[in-house]
Amino acid sequence: MKTFTLSAEVTEYATLDELRPEEQRLVHEARAARGEAYAPYSKFLVGAALLLDDGTIVRGANQENASYGMTACAERTAIWRAWLQGQERAILGIAITGGHAEDTREPPPHLRQPIRPCGACRQVLSEARFRAERKLFVILDSRGGVLHRVDDSDVLLPLAFDPRTLGIEPQ
Ligand code: THU
Repeated sequence: MKTFTLSAEVTEYATLDELRPEEQRLVHEARAARGEAYAPYSKFLVGAALLLDDGTIVRGANQENASYGMTACAERTAIWRAWLQGQERAILGIAITGGHAEDTREPPPHLRQPIRPCGACRQVLSEARFRAERKLFVILDSRGGVLHRVDDSDVLLPLAFDPRTLGIEPQ
């Protein structure tokens, strides 16, 4: 028997200005994408923005459904949009942001923490990394608190179920 440790390196930024200008722009795009959310049930608006290798940005936002389980998250809508545009190999990374719609006052402590993508989105992000054939960076924005960044989306889903488990290689 042996044990091994999986570790994740996360960089914390006190403010948005500490990020590279291109990544600041990406976070602003994710914040703007929240305006495209359809979230009448949770009223929790999530925005995502993907950076492509030519500098293009692809936005996504959560799209809810009266049958709650049919809801699509922001991250997945952005990734699907990029894939449908044939850009699966061009994705470099993603910024994600979220918060309650009516929240205009000082954000409560839980929103001052960077947003955490759900498990389903981490799985789809893992597929996006596989299709892009490169590490994808992930920036997690907060409402007035710190931001978190990882260089490789895979650290968000250690021991992932991977297409290679099925004998599939990138196309
Ligand atoms: N949501 C996202 O868009 N992304 C996530 O990673 C977590 C949750 C959305 C789904 C739902 O519309 C709302 O946030 C509340 O769960």
